[in-house]
Amino acid sequence: MHAAGPGSFPATRLRRNRQHHWLRAMVAETTLAPADLVWPLFVHDHAAPLPIAAMPGVERLPIEGVVRAAAEAVTLGIPAIALFPATDPALKTADGAHALDPDNLVCRTVHAIRRETGDRLGILCDVALDPYTTHGHDGLLVEGRIVNDETVAVLCRQAVVLAEAGCHMVAPSDMMDGRVGAIRAALDAAGRHDVGILAYAAKYASAFYGPFRDAVGSAASLGTADKLGLGDKKTYQMDPANALEAIREVALDVAEGADMVMVKPAGTALDIIHRVKTTFGLPTLAYQVSGEYAMIQAAAGHGWLDGARAAAESVLVIKRAGADAVLTYFAPVLARALFARG
Ligand code: PBG
Repeated sequence: MHAAGPGSFPATRLRRNRQHHWLRAMVAETTLAPADLVWPLFVHDHAAPLPIAAMPGVERLPIEGVVRAAAEAVTLGIPAIALFPATDPALKTADGAHALDPDNLVCRTVHAIRRETGDRLGILCDVALDPYTTHGHDGLLVEGRIVNDETVAVLCRQAVVLAEAGCHMVAPSDMMDGRVGAIRAALDAAGRHDVGILAYAAKYASAFYGPFRDAVGSAASLGTADKLGLGDKKTYQMDPANALEAIREVALDVAEGADMVMVKPAGTALDIIHRVKTTFGLPTLAYQVSGEYAMIQAAAGHGWLDGARAAAESVLVIKRAGADAVLTYFAPVLARALFARG
C-alpha cells in the first residue's frame, strides 16, 4: 500500500482535473458570488454625476444616484455598500467639525438610502475626519502632530452621529489607538448596541489610495499640509514593511470589540489577509483600494489586458487568501456578470 499523501507521476496527473469547464468548476476551491462583494460609493452635493479621472467607470454621485445604486445592489445580491462623501471645500475646517453635523451630506444620504432599501442592504460608513479637514488628515492636527486621544473623542461623536443617521456599521478607518473600544462604549451609551464596528484594523500607509483622495478631495488638502511636511499619514497608518505589527493591531481591535476586521489595501497584503483570517477566525474583510482599481482599468483601457478577467481574478484571489468579503469598485460589474450567468 502507498502511504497517504501526494501521489506521483505518471499515476497522478493533476491536469486530469483541468480538462473541462464542468470539471474545473467542480473542483474550484474558491468561488465568487455577489454576496462576497461590498460596493464603495462616492456621494457629492451636486445635481449631476462627476467622473473621477483616475477611476474610469466610477463617479461621484448625487444622493439620488447613490439611492439608485443602492437599489441596484439589492437586485444584484450585493449585501452592503460603503459610503464616502466628497465634502464641499467651503465646509472643511481644521477640526473637521462638519463631521458631527447630523444634517451633513453622508447623513442625508444614509437617510435617503434607508427609505429605499430599509434593512435589506447594509450601509457602512467610514469614521475618520479626512473628508472634513482642511489639511486632509484623519485626525486632529495640533502643533504639527496628529493627536490621538483628542481625535478618538471626536471620532466617538462622529460614530454616534452616523449611527443615529441609520447606518448599520461604522468603519473606523483612522488608525488611532484605542478608538474601537471607545467607539463601542459611545455607541452603547447612545443605545446603539445593534450598530456594528468594522475596524480598518490593518491599514497600511499606501501609495494606492491616491485616486480615492482625489475622489473625496482630501488630496488637495493633504497637498497643502505637504508644504508643512505633514503630507502623509505614516504616523498613524502602518508601514507596509510590517506583518507582525498587523497581527497586534488586529488583536487590539478584536479585544476592544470589533465585529469584523479589515485589511487594506488587499492586493499588496494577501499574506496579511491570510494571517489575520487564520489567527483570529473572525469575519475578515479586505479593501481592494482605488489604486488597485486604477491600475487594472488603466491597463485595460490601453488594451494591455482583459479588464473583466483581470478584475474577476484580482478579487477571487483576495477571497482565496482568506477574505470573507471584498470592498471593491468592481462590485457592480462583477455582480452583474455573476448575475447574468445565473
Ligand atoms: C480615509 C480613507 C481612505 C480610504 C478609505 N478611507 C484614504 C486614506 O486613508 O487616505 C482609501 C480607499 C481607497 O483608496 O479606495 N480614512
